[in-house]
Amino acid sequence: MNSKTLTNLSTGFPKRILRLDASANPGDSSSRKLGDHLLRQLEQDNPAIETRERDLNTDLSFIDSSWIAANFTPSDEREATQKARLRFSDELIAELNWAEHIVLTTPMYNFGIPATLKAWIDFICRAGVTFRYGANGAEGLLKGKRVDIVITTGGAPLDSPLDFVSGYLRQVFNFVGIEDINIIGADQMNVDAEASFSKAVSQIEQIYPAIAA
Ligand SMILES: Cc1cc2nc3c(=O)[nH]c(=O)nc-3n(C[C@H](O)[C@H](O)[C@H](O)COP(=O)(O)O)c2cc1C
Repeated sequence: MNSKTLTNLSTGFPKRILRLDASANPGDSSSRKLGDHLLRQLEQDNPAIETRERDLNTDLSFIDSSWIAANFTPSDEREATQKARLRFSDELIAELNWAEHIVLTTPMYNFGIPATLKAWIDFICRAGVTFRYGANGAEGLLKGKRVDIVITTGGAPLDSPLDFVSGYLRQVFNFVGIEDINIIGADQMNVDAEASFSKAVSQIEQIYPAIAA
């Protein structure tokens, strides 16, 4: 993992954190355990933090033709059924708007992200809501937020040609306007789980060092 991607918080601690978890194995998930550690680091140092959590393994469905038609209908022309079709997507976007800081944990599945996380991305990328097209092309509308992304893999090294997770997630968050992106990697857990996990814990404590001391 490139240490250049790690930055300390220089502008104080965030107050509103949205946690998103994508592992389909919540009972024994290394990515979720690392997310727990990251949240503990933040929460212990700042009791004022408010955290909302969304498990991407529950409630997520997929966009379909009715959702696309509703999304591409101008908002002031939408019928009640179209508004209803977009309500869940509106809710996911409202969570993002509320958050100052997002913590996303995800494993690599088949070289990419879990389908549930892709479903979430399809719901939150909306023209005129989270991005817009202007004279200079696409512009993200979720400005001034930070995201920490915890990624676990079995055999694939992050930043290798097998990694279709980290670059993709950077692109998606950049696309919606979030430029402060940290990737924390516990990759190659099948090679040496303990070493990979410790490496990720060190990365977390390098970013949020207060409690680690
Ligand atoms: C369905 C599935 C697909 C997976 N595909 C890959 C893969 O393509 N490359 C890889 O390195 N690891 C792969 N893994 C291994 C997971 O990324 C690894 O076990 C990770 O630590 C799981 O995270 P979790 O404990 O948070 O669920 C896969 C695991 C599962 C269950």
